[in-house]
Amino acid sequence: MGLLLRSLSMLILLMWFIRLPALRAQSITAPSSRSARALDVLLQDYAYRAFVHPKTGKPFDGNVPSNLTGIKISAMRLRSGSLYRKGVPMYKEFEIPTGVSETPYVLRLVLVYQNLGNWSMVYYSLPGYIHLTPVLGLLAYSASDLLATNLRELNITATGDPIKIKFPDVQSVPDGAVAKCAWFNLQGLVNLSDVLSGDTCSMIQQGHFSIVVESNAPSPTPISPTKKKNNSKVGIIVGSVLGGLALLALLFFLVLWAQKYKNRKKMQQMEREADVGEALHMTTVGNTKAPAATVTRTQPVLESEYAP
Ligand SMILES: *[C@@H]1O[C@H](CO)[C@@H](O)[C@H](O)[C@H]1NC(C)=O
Ligand SMILES: *[C@@H]1O[C@H](CO)[C@@H](O)[C@H](O)[C@H]1NC(C)=O
Repeated sequence: MGLLLRSLSMLILLMWFIRLPALRAQSITAPSSRSARALDVLLQDYAYRAFVHPKTGKPFDGNVPSNLTGIKISAMRLRSGSLYRKGVPMYKEFEIPTGVSETPYVLRLVLVYQNLGNWSMVYYSLPGYIHLTPVLGLLAYSASDLLATNLRELNITATGDPIKIKFPDVQSVPDGAVAKCAWFNLQGLVNLSDVLSGDTCSMIQQGHFSIVVESNAPSPTPISPTKKKNNSKVGIIVGSVLGGLALLALLFFLVLWAQKYKNRKKMQQMEREADVGEALHMTTVGNTKAPAATVTRTQPVLESEYAP
């Protein structure tokens, strides 16, 4: 029994090691965060240009320079108090609840929306992961000067319910993989959290967001088809070899254990038979019972028989 337990625990240990990559740290530094910050500066400028006749609480779609075609931007001007008390039920994919406040405090602010589309991988590549959605950004700036450029972001924080992002078309998650919400903060750190109802992420601060999945799982749209395919093929081969080995080891230990069990059973039976045998070989000497164990031993004789 001990042997079986030991082999089982070895198997579990083996599986643990195979699963280890999935237990990677949840905070990763995105390598492209520097150029992503320069993009934020550029997009703030172009988003503010959308305010020709600015109306509070209405989204205005902006145009990006032609070298960034594929990126969509919008800007919405709000009174800070109104944002806090009423929220914004729907701003593109963002659902902003009541209780969102900004620091430093401003009277009016602008929420700049970014949808990076096919540029998501360029500015927000995450080693070991692929995006299942475009990267969406929500950044807040002061609205005191709508011609300003190089503005610093305000820190917005959801003090009540979190802000929710409902992604419209999430690519299907590869079999066996688990999709995660990725939050890229303005300092270049990435935080991963669970996806809600398959397509929704929640956030309490500004930044960029997408749904990601680990790229070592087979992917529906590999970034570089040949390399990815080879990777997943190698993964499958290594996986099945390891799995096969683990199975073999388990079988081996099972057989070993069964044999040991059988041997022990046999020994017990032999011992029992030996006991029974001894009992049977009791012979009656005179009117007394005496064991007549082995051949070489002298037969017990009653003294009285020698008596003349
Ligand atoms: C794209 O063009 C704009 C305006 O011409 C320029 O300021 C910016 O640096 C360019 N950006 C990239 C990433 O090439
Ligand atoms: C994204 O698509 C547009 C056309 O819609 C193209 O001009 C642009 O080069 C693409 N960007 C990237 C990074 O592939």
